[in-house]
Amino acid sequence: VSLKTSNSFGIDAVADQFFRLESPQQLAELQQSLKLLPEAIPRLFLGGGSNLILSDRLAALVIQVALTGKQILEQGEETTIVSGAAGENWHEFVQWTLAQGLGGLENLSLIPGTVGASPIQNIGAYGRELKDFFHQLTAFDFELGEFRTFTKAECQFAYRDSIFKREFKDRFLITEVQFALPRLWKPELSYGDVAQQLQQRGIHKPKPQDVSDVICAIRQSKLPDPAIIGNAGSFFKNPVVSPALREQILRSHPNCVSYPLDDGNFKLAAGWLIEQCGWKGKRLERVGVYEKQALVLVNLGGATGKDVRALAAQIQADVAENFSVNLEVEPVFV
Ligand code: EPU
Repeated sequence: VSLKTSNSFGIDAVADQFFRLESPQQLAELQQSLKLLPEAIPRLFLGGGSNLILSDRLAALVIQVALTGKQILEQGEETTIVSGAAGENWHEFVQWTLAQGLGGLENLSLIPGTVGASPIQNIGAYGRELKDFFHQLTAFDFELGEFRTFTKAECQFAYRDSIFKREFKDRFLITEVQFALPRLWKPELSYGDVAQQLQQRGIHKPKPQDVSDVICAIRQSKLPDPAIIGNAGSFFKNPVVSPALREQILRSHPNCVSYPLDDGNFKLAAGWLIEQCGWKGKRLERVGVYEKQALVLVNLGGATGKDVRALAAQIQADVAENFSVNLEVEPVFV
């Protein structure tokens, strides 16, 4: 089965085996039949495919998560619990919560991908992360053949990270995610030019939908639409450095972009580092660095996983040489 239209980078990968999951009830049977195989076959859980770099041929069983449904579960005094099935499109889910009059997820508008994939890397943007309003999730354990609930603490969320990227990688298939959205909503406008853009629109008391609209406009102005230019969002994590290293960089580059962290270290803007190394808008074979945002690698047509790896490695080497900073890749290579 070709996966070309199932991954946002648009890599023309072929999977040996493919299963479309439309109901959670199919999972127990699927797990049983996999156990009967003479040899274990690797599994790949596929949501929107927006954070994956695929190899050309996958000797694996690809399970496409096509579970749908969303609902309000519980109206509490302080929060409203909403639930989304894993296969729901993330942005549409966010817009649905806003249409119900529920704020909280607006800063995460227009992030590509599905509800089920959103906790895996703890998606984040414009001063908010998924974990801020996460309640719990349900996942199917392919080892024990049963469903399990994960609380927020059990997910071990961190910056673009969770337990599902580490020890539980490929073991649990997330089927449903619940969010606790606040009754008393306050906008988060501290990041970048969100506040300024609202001002420009003459909005002084923004509602959740206003914040969402502004964030959609900002994203559309600097991030490529994967439906038009293949990409996997930010390609590297923003690196964390010691105060000493930041000082050293500031001596040669006084305009270095950095944000102080609670632990005394600093987060640097990886996009800025890459741009300083001259990579913005450049290409290597069939992969390029997006001209409006250097943190995003784009498919210039017919890119393979190998092309992507080669460009990523060159960028990492240049940033390490010029700034003594190691850039960590953010999407998952399969
Ligand atoms: N910058 C440059 N050159 C560039 C890109 C950025 O100098 O080519 C500078 C900007 O001028 C700005 C700073 O870097 O001062 C930060 O840029 P931006 O606001 O675009 O955000 P980012 O740090 O590059 C992160 C997330 C994005 C998220 C935005 C907004 C990561 C790895 N990326 O990018 O997330 O949308 O902040 O919150 O944390 C994603 O994960 O796929 C993603 C797009």
